[in-house]
Amino acid sequence: MIHCKNLFKSYKTSEFEEIILNNINLEIKDGSSVSISGKSGSGKSTLFHIMSGLEKFTSGDVLIDGKNVKNLNDKDMSAFRKDHIGYIYQFHHLLYEFSVIENVMMPLHIKGMNKDLAYEASIEILKRVALEKRLDFNINKLSGGERQRVAIARALVGSPKYIFADEPTGNLDKKNALNVFSIMKELVVENNSTFLLATHDSEISNKMTHKYLLENGEMKAI
Ligand SMILES: Nc1ncnc2c1ncn2[C@@H]1O[C@H](COP(=O)(O)OP(=O)(O)OP(=O)(O)O)[C@@H](O)[C@H]1O
Ligand SMILES: [Mg+2]
Repeated sequence: MIHCKNLFKSYKTSEFEEIILNNINLEIKDGSSVSISGKSGSGKSTLFHIMSGLEKFTSGDVLIDGKNVKNLNDKDMSAFRKDHIGYIYQFHHLLYEFSVIENVMMPLHIKGMNKDLAYEASIEILKRVALEKRLDFNINKLSGGERQRVAIARALVGSPKYIFADEPTGNLDKKNALNVFSIMKELVVENNSTFLLATHDSEISNKMTHKYLLENGEMKAI
């Protein structure tokens, strides 16, 4: 479970303090699928970065699997992320100097998995996202939808417990967005992962078990 308690995040400049997250209380139960919507700049990416231990917050608490992230040092947090979190970034952050298969093998390599096993597991997941014919392509030769599917394969390849997907379909047309989403949902359900999705698309958020709106720093169930 991920539990945010009285979570507060602000940015201070020399002149003023801008509040991004204002006393968020949120429980994400294991195995649930949760969408967070809210207009651009409302703090969705910031909240995901905080809940996955990528970014510090101003006050409050975030507990992941009962562990208070404030009590984890950078090394412990990285180890937790490596083992339990898959993250699909808003701008996918693939490694452009590497091929499709190398990008997907990367998290398994970091976990210390044997190369042959990592290769097999990566091929399996790339088949699931229909990219088995693109294994040795460099990322810059792929279409937008194909890049998103590589990012999904990379996030899901180790079957992590928590999947964060930050507008993974934001720059795709409707048909591709629904296709990419349904592949992702299918894999998440198979792995019994907890799925957190930031999206502007109500057709997609309607397919999740819990829906929230982030507005003026506050979280409302919708
Ligand atoms: N380092 C920073 N310093 C100051 N303000 C910041 C910083 N990082 C983010 N912000 C501000 O925090 C707000 C929330 O940003 P965030 O990226 O979380 O929004 P978002 O809901 O993900 O938006 P989008 O839908 O456009 O992706 C924005 O107004 C942004 O400018
Ligand atoms: Mg964002």
